[in-house]
Amino acid sequence: MPRTALTQSVEFMDCWTDGISNQLARDVFVGLTSKQKTIPSKYFYDSRGSKLFEEICRLPEYYVTRVEMALLKDRAHRIMRYFHQGDLVELGSGANWKIRMLIDALDEKARVRTRYVPVDVSETAILESVNELVDLYPELSVMIVVADFTRDLRRLPNDGPKLMLFLGSTIGNMNTEESVSFLTSVAQCLVPGDRFLLGLDMVKPPKILEAAYDDAKGITADFNRNMLHVVNRELDANFSPDHFDHLAFFNEEEEQVEMHLKANRRMRVDISDIDLTATFEKGETILTEISRKFTRESAQSMIEQSGLEVAQWHQDPKGWFALADLCRAD
Ligand code: AVJ
Repeated sequence: MPRTALTQSVEFMDCWTDGISNQLARDVFVGLTSKQKTIPSKYFYDSRGSKLFEEICRLPEYYVTRVEMALLKDRAHRIMRYFHQGDLVELGSGANWKIRMLIDALDEKARVRTRYVPVDVSETAILESVNELVDLYPELSVMIVVADFTRDLRRLPNDGPKLMLFLGSTIGNMNTEESVSFLTSVAQCLVPGDRFLLGLDMVKPPKILEAAYDDAKGITADFNRNMLHVVNRELDANFSPDHFDHLAFFNEEEEQVEMHLKANRRMRVDISDIDLTATFEKGETILTEISRKFTRESAQSMIEQSGLEVAQWHQDPKGWFALADLCRAD
């Protein structure tokens, strides 16, 4: 793979094998024929959805991003102390706010030996973020990877020391089984000396959690309903987003916030591209997202089961968010 040491270079790798529509078609078919209807949360993020999510991140109720950013800023030097060269592989990269804090903690010498590898399904999101980044850090090399990181991990560049990053508590969108299988495959990408920084949102009072996922301005409600616009467009469906109410609550048993779209009347919806007519009773819901909240114990158990080990555990003074700095267990 061509690498330049002193001039910044940008490479590109496209891992979309069957494109988004096929996978979406399968996921929507399976999801809407299940007893508890469901559509995977990754389909929130078309360009409108990504914009809405960035808006959520700035809401007073959505503490997640603010607390994680403050923690990253506070610990950046400690986290980067072990990184002198190699790849910064960011899974589900999105905007560049967080990676900038880590790059800022690197000295000039380390920066020229660093390659940033953002991995995301949204090509436009990566390009926007990288454009800004190469202006700010001309000494940095970049390799853009357009891929679904839940499926294409083995195809990521893996030819030198690296720090992998999975921030924002995106891991919370996976159930216990999915998260352990995903983290196990991340662990298998690591060699001795490599690190993996995992962002985890922690359990806190339900009132705070529920406000964060049901804000006063209704941005999260729009974000939730955006999923229906995506399905309408991509699969030629006729959902009326207005016929669904936003519902978000903390399921204490499962230690997860759940977001649903709740039908406010009986209706039928045609999803033409998959020849499916879905019927909804009034009050029936589509589960659109789980956002798991962790305790130190539940995190520890997930980490151990995945063949990982905590090298350093960082959390804010209130214990609202954690950054687990991990390495391979053996
Ligand atoms: C991007 C998955 C971390 O679960 O908090 C924000 C997405 N959903 N508001 C989260 C989200 C509703 C967010 N993650």
